[in-house]
Amino acid sequence: MSPQPQAAVGAPLSRVDGRLKVTGEAQYAAEFDIDGVVHAVIVDASIGRGRITGVDTGAAEAVPGVLRVIHNGNAPTLPYRDNPMSPTSNNPPGRRLRVFQDDRVLFHGQPVAVVVATTLESAQHGASLVKVEYDVERPTTDLADGEPGEPDNYTRGDAAAGLRDADVRLDATYRLAREHHNPMEPHATIARWDGNRLTVWDKTQWVLGTQTELSTVFDVPLDAVRVVNPFVGGGFGSGLRGWPHTVVAALAARETGRPVKLVLTRKQMYFGTGFRPAYEYRMRVGSDRRGRLVATDQRIDSETSSYETFTEAVMTPGQMLYITPDVRQAYRTVPLDVNSPIWMRGPGAATGVFAVESAMDELAHELGIDPVELRRRNEPADDPSNNLPFSTRRLRECYTVGAREFGWDRRTPKPRSTRDGDWLIGLGMASGVYHTAVAPADSRGRLNADGTAVIESATSDMGPGTYTSQTQVAADALGLAVRAVDYRLGDSRYPRTPPHGGSQTMASVGSATLDVCNKLRRQAIQLAVEDEKSPLHGVSADDIVVQGGRLHVQGNPARGESYQRLLTRNDRTRLEADTSFSPPRGERFSISGYSATFTEVAVDATLGLVRVRRMLSVYDAGRIISPKLADSQAIGGMVGGIGAALLEHTVTDHRDGRIVNANLADYLVPVNADIPDLRAIYLDGEDYEADPLGVKGLAELVICGVAPAIANAVFNATGRRVRELPITAEALL
Ligand code: MOS
Repeated sequence: MSPQPQAAVGAPLSRVDGRLKVTGEAQYAAEFDIDGVVHAVIVDASIGRGRITGVDTGAAEAVPGVLRVIHNGNAPTLPYRDNPMSPTSNNPPGRRLRVFQDDRVLFHGQPVAVVVATTLESAQHGASLVKVEYDVERPTTDLADGEPGEPDNYTRGDAAAGLRDADVRLDATYRLAREHHNPMEPHATIARWDGNRLTVWDKTQWVLGTQTELSTVFDVPLDAVRVVNPFVGGGFGSGLRGWPHTVVAALAARETGRPVKLVLTRKQMYFGTGFRPAYEYRMRVGSDRRGRLVATDQRIDSETSSYETFTEAVMTPGQMLYITPDVRQAYRTVPLDVNSPIWMRGPGAATGVFAVESAMDELAHELGIDPVELRRRNEPADDPSNNLPFSTRRLRECYTVGAREFGWDRRTPKPRSTRDGDWLIGLGMASGVYHTAVAPADSRGRLNADGTAVIESATSDMGPGTYTSQTQVAADALGLAVRAVDYRLGDSRYPRTPPHGGSQTMASVGSATLDVCNKLRRQAIQLAVEDEKSPLHGVSADDIVVQGGRLHVQGNPARGESYQRLLTRNDRTRLEADTSFSPPRGERFSISGYSATFTEVAVDATLGLVRVRRMLSVYDAGRIISPKLADSQAIGGMVGGIGAALLEHTVTDHRDGRIVNANLADYLVPVNADIPDLRAIYLDGEDYEADPLGVKGLAELVICGVAPAIANAVFNATGRRVRELPITAEALL
């Protein structure tokens, strides 16, 4: 086949759905106008652990408009079959959060009742009047107080011996605060039963996951549950599983026989969905005098809930970022009286990279070696964790380009040696890595006789621009203008896809899009070469390309005809195709995206205030499909990393398990005034070992490496090594 000309891919398009979004026409979960909808408000447990001894619903039920109050005393038994797609693993048998199924309170904020009413105000008022009595137990919510579970271990070589024999040793413990995703759009569900069929309009990043969760909870067939989510107002991972409130909405709808709308308040999103777990990461590092790593011993503890074990790929960076003969890792989860964590942008990797890249900076200082040079000296030829060759690993180029463009040579290695008035100035850098995930994905497409195409997959667009980037891929594969392609997503009736997370959408769903569009184009070409009336009759199919909706001989645009003419003459209203894309089995390569982030910070010498002055990241992320959206991703990732480094911290009152800053006034995220000049550079290139599109994923990579670059710059500015995120003014005084 002649390669299709690429016109849309690589072009800096604005979002194809941008107009819908800025005019308010895009409909988010809570905005669907469903006939006869009533409103549900959840009553949250006001204790951190214990038992419900009584629920008094009298006052609530007396509120005009209140239809039902459901709680553990009157709720029907729900089947809660095992969910094979649960994102948590190794759950204790029978332990699962089952809403209203028993009297146990497992965490502060757990749903203990729901009030359903004809108006939102009645439901809110009713919920405020429900009286719940408890037997209160003291919760354990501090990572330092919990009883760790059995570790996941990784070993190569002999870390103890390696450390013993090392010329230089470092022993540092890093602590990372719990963070919440805080997407703009609150989580919300509208649920409606039609007989035994359930439809939910839900804020989710994975319609199939929510569909499976509801199907198992209510024990109805998977295809009896439809999940709709055409627009998602931010997610960062918070929508990667079905949450209890989605079950509550469906239960309330079933019990009242009415469609039910349930919108979490901002406060409820701090315990009604997940979070990035807090971590303690102890890093022991040994190197020789020239800075070559000989051994690391890494002890990693993170929080999980009492009813589910949540783990993430926190161990990967510490295994493969640098050549290290002897490595030992032990990763333990600590069950606490909290709700379950979930992936948050750069899941696991952002945490692991912080520890590794902070330790590298400490080592560089100890040895008097430039931090970039130290990393170069430890650059592996193959992936040291599995001995696989890298598909592409261009970290050295990231360093070279980044150092040059940033002006790294202006850095003075001696900490606290550069001033600008009251401000101490520091430069820091860090590498980043994120494993490229590629998963099976399905797609189907129609090429219509009017020269338009419709492509469908059950994926999501939480903000990265799935609509746009998939449209770009489809347009080029079909040889159509971008506006002739209608890409549809966000409905479980569309073909199956993996979760819209882990930076796998472009590689996985994009490959399915490419595949299904290639099939459609080939069908059309086949039709033309076999059609005696076509100017392309008898031409080898391999010599035909399509541009602007017109099939023609490669190199001879005059000889050809349009899709419209071809299909119309053949009495075909459309061509149809579907596909199941699967990545090749068996790992032949180590495939990851890489980054180098450089930043300059200013620290007020008397107040301890940290300002990021500028930041530059260079990415080895494979092919960039959509440069404008990539920049949005990169800037968003840097902002998220600045938040993690300096601001974000979910604070729990360990006396009763209450989250004390469950709102956007007290949970700090960066605002415009915190964000300086941010610049992203992408190394030109593609990685066809990763997937047929040559992409390596960007969304997670862009946050990994940002926080350690800032922490390292703060050290360079002040001489203070802060090993705890977020870095607060207090820590610098
Ligand atoms: Mo993100 S944690 O991949 O939604």
